[in-house]
Amino acid sequence: IIKSVISVCNYEDLSEADRLLADNAFEMTQHSYSPYSHFSVGAAVRMSNNHIVRGCNQENAAFGVTICAERTALFAAGAEFPDTPIEAIAIAARGTDGQLLEEPVSPCGSCRQAMIETELRSNQQLHIILCGKEKFYVMEGIRQLMPLSFAEF
Ligand code: THU
Repeated sequence: IIKSVISVCNYEDLSEADRLLADNAFEMTQHSYSPYSHFSVGAAVRMSNNHIVRGCNQENAAFGVTICAERTALFAAGAEFPDTPIEAIAIAARGTDGQLLEEPVSPCGSCRQAMIETELRSNQQLHIILCGKEKFYVMEGIRQLMPLSFAEF
């Protein structure tokens, strides 16, 4: 049996630092470039130097070129602060109706793999906040979402 531990929270349950990160992820859904899917994703990462680096999905007419919000933020953070661990990530999304999703959005498999690499590079677990409009899933470590990952072998 392999279990995941995920806390289901309200906004008020989040720490002040996590509320700030979630606010940034919500805000970044407004910067999304998603003329093809009309699905707007925002992500914000907190570095151990307390900088917040943000991203959103960037689509392309050649669909495979599109990059998700999570990787946009993670790669920007790695580029800007190559020697600084990333300690947390918040992710939010708006559906095709432009409204924030009620259910917390969950990262795709490629972004989960990128988060595993982030943990290896940072030498610490990621604190992960998946944001719905008023409901949040909070967990410690990407392995909660991706057990038995490639990097473990
Ligand atoms: N997307 C993300 O930004 N993050 C994910 O984890 C899943 C999907 C984006 C990619 C594409 O621009 C749109 O959402 C629809 O798939």
